Amino acid sequence: MHLAIIMDGNGRWAKTRGLGRIKGHKEGAKRVEEIVRYASKIGVHTLTLYAFSTENWQRPSPEVTALFQLIKLYLRRKVRELKIENVKINFIGRRDRLPKPVLKEMINSENETDKCTGLHLNVAVDYGGRDEILRVMNDLIQESSSLSGHPREIDEASFKSYSDLKNQCDPDLIIRTGGDKRLSNFMLWHAAYSELDFVDTLWPDFNEKELASALDRASGKERRYGGIGDS
Ligand code: IPE
Ligand code: IPE
Ligand code: MG
Repeated sequence: MHLAIIMDGNGRWAKTRGLGRIKGHKEGAKRVEEIVRYASKIGVHTLTLYAFSTENWQRPSPEVTALFQLIKLYLRRKVRELKIENVKINFIGRRDRLPKPVLKEMINSENETDKCTGLHLNVAVDYGGRDEILRVMNDLIQESSSLSGHPREIDEASFKSYSDLKNQCDPDLIIRTGGDKRLSNFMLWHAAYSELDFVDTLWPDFNEKELASALDRASGKERRYGGIGDS
């Protein structure tokens, strides 16, 4: 099972408590720890978490700074634990616009957990589905211009091989917390046949029980992939 989560609702969680948005992100980061542990425990093989979108740069700069600070602190504090829990961490998205100390911590955590064989944790940072598609297209154009003769025809497999989920399966289930029913630029290519589950719970209130119910709902769905199924 490849589970992906759009972790939305931190700001509203804080607002309803009369707190600043950053407090909401701090609480949200605690849920990340719990959900990663739980996903690993129940045998999810891949977990992809949407942490920062290519559009989130539009937020006020203190909020952007706080979000990156949280990512950096999470990695610094957790990398040893992730390794002990056999979690392999990998970042998807752009790397060219990130603050250097954050990027350094990201690369360090990828290297540290490189040999881990348990849960594969993808964290989407400065990730956008459209941006990913354009990066793939540009890589394919580059590849083709470096080859002599006819450019090869692009098929789904060659596209995928340049994408952020190369060597990984597409998400089976995408959960979005926070009540909005949209993808907000998440996994535009890979979500073609993912099950979608939208829950009203704000991310800082999301818990193991809610995740278990979402997995339960998804397990009852017949995935026909355009065919007619078993019936
Ligand atoms: C999700 O929570 C976290 C990020 C997008 C980084 P939000 O900050 O979007 O919370 P709401 O949607 O404003 O409540
Ligand atoms: C999606 O949430 C991005 C992440 C959870 C990282 P947003 O809060 O940015 O999405 P919109 O703006 O409501 O579409
Ligand atoms: Mg939001």
